[in-house]
Amino acid sequence: MKINNNVILITGGATGIGFALTKTLCENNKVIICGRREDKLIEAKNILPKINIKKCDITSKTERDELLKYISNTFGGLDILINNAGVQKPIDFTLGNNEFEDSDIEIDINFKAQIHMISTFMPLLLKSTNPSIINVSSGLAFVPLSNFPIYCATKAALHSFSISLRHQLRNTNIKVFEVMPPYIYDTELKDGKVSLERPPFGMSSEEFARIVINGLNNDKYEISQGGTNDLSSIIKEDFYKRFNMMNK
Ligand SMILES: NC(=O)c1ccc[n+]([C@@H]2O[C@H](COP(=O)([O-])OP(=O)(O)OC[C@H]3O[C@@H](n4cnc5c(N)ncnc54)[C@H](OP(=O)(O)O)[C@@H]3O)[C@@H](O)[C@H]2O)c1
Repeated sequence: MKINNNVILITGGATGIGFALTKTLCENNKVIICGRREDKLIEAKNILPKINIKKCDITSKTERDELLKYISNTFGGLDILINNAGVQKPIDFTLGNNEFEDSDIEIDINFKAQIHMISTFMPLLLKSTNPSIINVSSGLAFVPLSNFPIYCATKAALHSFSISLRHQLRNTNIKVFEVMPPYIYDTELKDGKVSLERPPFGMSSEEFARIVINGLNNDKYEISQGGTNDLSSIIKEDFYKRFNMMNK
């Protein structure tokens, strides 16, 4: 895909992987980032004055519609939607119902809102000459980490959804990418604290952003690296045989 001269929306673009992608993509594109915390968006804009920021909780229909209106009125369209926003919560089912009651927001943010974002922006994407949807799932979509049972399930759901969406949109111009990060240590995902100390495994958000950009440049529809690559390929060999049989 062509990754310059586009209008790009990056959800959760003020921190972590989203911010690393924003940094690179804002050089040659018009980039809009959104998130729930205005202070984080302003912090990002202070570092990258070229970017456009808009406070938006992607789980809110009202706020998604406001974002659509802002982008249509200000930029006249959208070429690339990067569905990057996500949250991760440890949940212990031995502690009873409250644990889940407090945590089902993960399903809303990591899965339901991603679908709503796609349907909200679909009319603009269908009008673009270089349209793409980029869904950020996870290596944990393939082999779950049981401390984060809902998180892993939402990412597995997003993986499945991305395959169906790519197939459904095959006769349109819209390309559907899925980015499956391995462990990225310098983000707020785990506990809201950014670690700058490199652990023995994983990589930094900037290193991973380079892999993503390279994958997009080469039309690699499923972009992964390291452990994630290995996990997804084990399952996929047989998976795609079946998928292709079922989806003629
Ligand atoms: N870090 C990893 O090891 C890793 C591995 C695999 C996959 N991933 C995935 O990569 C993506 C980015 O995560 P990250 O690691 O970069 O973590 P991060 O620094 O916590 O970034 C997540 C971003 O999502 C935004 N966000 C969360 N809920 C939102 C909502 N309802 N509406 C709008 N924005 C929202 C957050 O901003 P606000 O809080 O201000 O809304 C934040 O900027 C996520 O989808 C994550 O699941 C990460």
